[in-house]
Amino acid sequence: TYQVTTTLANGEISTVYGGHTRGATPGPVALKIADDTSDNDLLQHEIRVIGMLAAASEQPDGPIVHIARPRDQFRTSDGRLGTVFDHLDGFDLTQVRDRCRARGEPGLPPKHLIWVLRRALAALGLAHKAGILHGNLDPAHLLVRPHDHNVWVIDWCWAVVNPARTGQGFKVINEVYSAPEVRDRGRPTPASDLYALGKCAIHAVGGDPATKTLPDMDPRLARFLKFMAVESQGGRPQDAWELYQQVGLLRKQIWGAHEFVPLEL
Ligand SMILES: Nc1ncnc2c1ncn2[C@@H]1O[C@H](COP(=O)(O)OP(=O)(O)OP(=O)(O)O)[C@@H](O)[C@H]1O
Ligand SMILES: [Mg+2]
Repeated sequence: TYQVTTTLANGEISTVYGGHTRGATPGPVALKIADDTSDNDLLQHEIRVIGMLAAASEQPDGPIVHIARPRDQFRTSDGRLGTVFDHLDGFDLTQVRDRCRARGEPGLPPKHLIWVLRRALAALGLAHKAGILHGNLDPAHLLVRPHDHNVWVIDWCWAVVNPARTGQGFKVINEVYSAPEVRDRGRPTPASDLYALGKCAIHAVGGDPATKTLPDMDPRLARFLKFMAVESQGGRPQDAWELYQQVGLLRKQIWGAHEFVPLEL
């Protein structure tokens, strides 16, 4: 049984509640419940996709990627599907930006953006290798735990699975964060997620993702972020793992040898 204590978010197709579970493994949970039975299939799709990601993450190559796996599933008395996740103790990218702003910075300091990008790129690299595109990345779908540099990519309801083989198209348009090919009903490719991630990064550091303007920062990093969000699908980066390596190099060029600095929010 679950005890609901708060409403965490009101999404487009579901509401996410915070609560606790008792029983064998007690602890804080997030309950994601469909607003309408017609949206059950999207929640079911998310569970299937996360299962594929979890299986892919068990392969030992590559950096650690944290996948938030569902711990349970239920139906409300009126037939709506609910998914039970462990409660993730992170802040989304807008909360991160706003907390940095509150102490007088334009947004998340670039030195911290670097590890957020690396963690997010590792998650996307894993997904893309498994044939899965996230399809709806925005600042609410990246949860950051500041003290140990943990990043979760969440909300896989809109994921596109093996588009080349299945012919699946994009499932949703996000006004600011979707790449142009989403609106044009074009071909979903990894570059589409990378565009959205680039815009999320611009948002996090305190820039404007709509116009791609950035606060003052090292020009090499500014160029990198704008490269991720190039309008032309073929003209922007295509491979999350390659970008992951490039972000590492960029960090070294700008700041020298890596040193772990916990983020205080
Ligand atoms: N496991 C979790 N732990 C803590 N917070 C969560 C968790 N899952 C979701 N949230 C919070 O709820 C918000 C919405 O979650 P999510 O995007 O998965 O659902 P949604 O937006 O309601 O669904 P949809 O976009 O599919 O309609 C997230 O941005 C996050 O702030
Ligand atoms: Mg969402």
